[in-house]
This record gives sequence, C-alpha cells and structure tokens, in this order.
Amino acid sequence: MNKAFVLGGSGFLGNYLIEELHRADIKVSALVHKTTLKQNSRQRINTFNGTLSDFDWHSLENDLPDVIFHSARMGGHDKKTRIQAATQNKQANERLVSWLETLQNPPLLVFVSGSLVYGSHGMQRIDETQPPCPISFQRDYFEAEKPILKSLHSGKIPVRIVRPSWIYGHGSWFQAFYLNYMKKKHKVPVYGKGDNLMAFVHASDCAAMMVHVARHGTKNEVFNLFTEPAMTQRAFSNLLAENTNLPLRHVPLWWLNLRFDRAVSEAFRFSLNLHTQHHSIWKQFSPYHPSIELWILKKNKEDYTQ
Ligand SMILES: NC(=O)c1ccc[n+]([C@@H]2O[C@H](COP(=O)([O-])OP(=O)(O)OC[C@H]3O[C@@H](n4cnc5c(N)ncnc54)[C@H](OP(=O)(O)O)[C@@H]3O)[C@@H](O)[C@H]2O)c1
Repeated sequence: MNKAFVLGGSGFLGNYLIEELHRADIKVSALVHKTTLKQNSRQRINTFNGTLSDFDWHSLENDLPDVIFHSARMGGHDKKTRIQAATQNKQANERLVSWLETLQNPPLLVFVSGSLVYGSHGMQRIDETQPPCPISFQRDYFEAEKPILKSLHSGKIPVRIVRPSWIYGHGSWFQAFYLNYMKKKHKVPVYGKGDNLMAFVHASDCAAMMVHVARHGTKNEVFNLFTEPAMTQRAFSNLLAENTNLPLRHVPLWWLNLRFDRAVSEAFRFSLNLHTQHHSIWKQFSPYHPSIELWILKKNKEDYTQ
C-alpha cells in the first residue's frame, strides 16, 4: 500500500488514522467535509472538499489510491436525526460502491463499523461469525452499513469491515463518561449493575490495526478490533478507583437515559465478550497500548481531578 484515501479524517478515529498512515510512510489524500483536518495533518495531505453524498468519485480515477479508509459517519443528535442521517449515509455508501464496481482494479475499501452491531450477548464468546443484531447507536446507524456489507458478501469488489470495541484515547467516551464525571463528583461511576463485559482498543491501535488489516487481510472479511480480553465495567471502574483513590458511585441507567438518551444507557448495559477468528493475522501485530490498565496507570493523577 503506497497511497490511501481517507473519509472522516477530521473525526475522532480518522485523526489517529491519518497519523498512523503518515507514520507508515503512506501517501495520504482525504475528503474534507465541514471540519478542517488537524494542522500537522493538513501540511502533508492532498485534500478534496465535499460531502460523501455528492463527491465526484471519478475525480480520483487519474491517480487511484490503493486503499480507501472509510471512517466517515453522518451523525444525528437524537433517534430521529440519527435515522435520517443513516438513510442519507446509506445512499452515499451505495453511490461509493457503485462507482467502485465500475473500475477494473478498484482500490480496497476498509470500512469502520462497531461492535455494537453484534448486540449484547452476556458472557458468550462472540467472533466475526456472529450475525448482526444492532443495539444502542447502531440500531439507527447500521442501515448505512448495509450496502458495504452487501458488497463484502457479493465479492465484486475488495472490501473489509472492521468492528472496533470501545475505542479509548484523547477525546473518547472515556472523557465524556468517566473523566468529566470524576472531576465534577470526585467519584468513579459504575453505570447500572456494572456486570457487563467491555473490550477495549486505544484509538492509535485501532488505526494501526486498520492499516494491518489492509496490508495483511487476504479476503473480503469482517475483523473485530480489540487488544485485550474483555473485562466487566465494574472491574474497569475499580482500576480507575485504585489509581485515583476516589470511591465508586453506582449511577443508575435511568440517569444516563435522562441526561443523554436511551442509546447511551443501552451502550453501558451492552455486554460483549469480543473474540476473533483471525488469530493468524494478529500474530505479527504489536499494539502501542496493550492494556487499558497500563494506559490508566501512566496517566497523571491530576488528569482525573482537575
Ligand atoms: N468513537 C468510538 O468509540 C467508536 C467505537 C467503535 C466504532 N466507531 C466507529 O468509528 C467510525 C468513526 O467514528 P468517530 O468516533 O471517529 O466519529 P466522528 O468523530 O463523529 O467522525 C465522523 C467523521 O465523518 C465525517 N462526516 C460526517 N458527515 C459527512 C459527510 N456527509 N461527508 C463526508 N464526511 C462526513 C465527519 O466530518 P465533519 O466533522 O466535517 O462532518 C468526521 O470526520 C464510526 O463509524 C463509528 O461507528 C467509533
């Protein structure tokens, strides 16, 4: 892979992805929608302005990328707007797939989905063979993935779908649901019973794993992305409590419902013992952050309380 085209490069994950592509010495171009790319990224990127809905894909044909990384998601702020966004996103993804199908040597499409697509399965081991049963935000957003999943199964073009677990790092849910809470209340939250399983991957590892899948995957397949065995939400909160000397506080799910929305409370009830069937591809992969415990231990105490 020498050339990559990035969709969603200004987003939380897309930003880490561009950094990783630069680190791997891959030439990057990107579609910029509303938000500009980070300063350091912009300097070394060939950018196109537009939206996924009406971008002229033919404009890439003179210098086709080897891989298109698709981390662009049209989002909404409540159920109604999420469903509207997903309908538009579905049409835009159909347009992208149709264009790719016209090419003689189409680039590989690596599409970012999420593990919420599997639904909640308690303690049961879940790998990529599990059929979708989307919950929480993916109840609404999964519609947009359908054309990509269809083309993955049809085999007409090269497609790989990645399903990351909970992605942590600067700007993630960790900030919104843990750090902010801890700073305000001086307690570590446990949402609901806390017995649900969560698997984790740092955003820089998620990006590196996407590049690894593009390089080392061989077929049209789905790849679950995580770097360590799943742990219970309570065990995760205990790690934070031990590292900060803050006490735990049980926060009922109805509070998340009122404060945010039902999709958020469902995400914190969601239990997934995420596994993979692709052991061989990960044998040569070394994560930057092998465990969330080490990442928490490395954080300064002040990060939590100020
Ligand atoms: N964050 C997580 O913890 C997590 C976990 C698992 C899976 N995922 C998946 O990872 C993917 C990316 O998530 P994220 O957290 O990085 O999302 P994000 O921060 O909301 O980024 C979304 C990106 O999509 C772009 N975008 C939105 N509408 C567009 C349009 N019409 N045309 C072109 N680009 C458009 C945005 O650009 P503008 O800002 O310019 O609109 C932004 O760059 C999603 O599919 C998500 O389901 C995320």
